[in-house]
Amino acid sequence: MDWTLSDVEAFARRTLTQAAYDYVAGGAGEERTLRDNVEAFRRQTLRPRFMVDVSKRDLSTPLLGQSYPVPFGVAATAFHRLFHEDGERGVARACAERGILHSVSTLATTPLEEVAQEGARRWFQVYIHRDRELTGNLVQRAVDAGYEALVLTVDAPVWAIRERDRRNKFTLPPPLTLANFERYLDAAVAGGPDGLSNYVNAQLDPSLTWTDLHWLRRFGLPVLVKGVLTAEDAALAVQHGAAGIIVSNHGARMLDRVPATLDVLPEIVDVVRGRVPVILDGGVRRGVDVLIALAAGANFVMLGRPVVWGLAAGGSAGAGRVLDLVREELDNAMALTGCRSVGEITRRLLA
Ligand SMILES: Cc1cc2nc3c(=O)[nH]c(=O)nc-3n(C[C@H](O)[C@H](O)[C@H](O)COP(=O)(O)O)c2cc1C
Repeated sequence: MDWTLSDVEAFARRTLTQAAYDYVAGGAGEERTLRDNVEAFRRQTLRPRFMVDVSKRDLSTPLLGQSYPVPFGVAATAFHRLFHEDGERGVARACAERGILHSVSTLATTPLEEVAQEGARRWFQVYIHRDRELTGNLVQRAVDAGYEALVLTVDAPVWAIRERDRRNKFTLPPPLTLANFERYLDAAVAGGPDGLSNYVNAQLDPSLTWTDLHWLRRFGLPVLVKGVLTAEDAALAVQHGAAGIIVSNHGARMLDRVPATLDVLPEIVDVVRGRVPVILDGGVRRGVDVLIALAAGANFVMLGRPVVWGLAAGGSAGAGRVLDLVREELDNAMALTGCRSVGEITRRLLA
């Protein structure tokens, strides 16, 4: 596989139906935030330092008491078997082979226990459903299957308006299912062309408040709050016991016109003051973007679409290739800015 990162999306596009491609590539509304997420990184320039001995570089990064070989992991994304038959297990295998952190979506097309069998270091992403018993059972299954943390997605009290998906009448084609919830299968798939978004809308709980974070913490795993975009919500998340903050706008897939995640990162880092890790996702397309996010104060970074493109283009090996390329680029950018370790990536690098 002789790809560069710039090729992967184009390769993926060739293998996917228009509806599946649009589901991944698209965002909410006019997709202004979608463009901004990426542009915020492209606007940032760097202040490299030289004549530091960079012959040895260490990319390892601590997070929640663990050490990871690189400061980035895989964000939770839905429906992997729609993109390649290797599906969620393929991404998990690519992560396991490299020791990379894998967040697994509630909306996976493979049961969470099967994904766990690949042995990757794993977090489980949770949507709290109206039916708390259903959510509780799912979370308990994740605990039992060795997931190390829960990621509570808070930015989806209702579902988004995604115009590409509406136009395409996007739904999960049979025989694929929301494999973590077999009993809702019929509702999801048989609901007609809008079955999926109707289904999700009917299940999401718009009444969620911070009290629900306390409920989720009772399952005993650290709970990270994903989808924070303001200092106010970051402060509340920490106050209510979040183990980490994920600064995210859901890959610009919920509400158009919210800011790029890189632009809101500093206010969140300032209010959190190192009490819990701050993780960023959204618009990271290159190793140098990982460096920029870390320099701007993130402790860790997650990749969404790039890994999905890798999976679509080349299955598990394709996802792995993307992870390797991002790692190589980050290592190269560290050397060329005078950083020997992740701890040396600081704000002084940002022009
Ligand atoms: C195809 C796709 C599916 C996603 N599914 C989920 C999901 O099920 N749960 C969730 O919390 N976030 C989901 N996300 C958002 C990602 O976790 C992440 O926030 C986003 O992809 C990061 O932006 P990036 O794609 O620009 O890297 C999804 C994103 C994409 C692109």
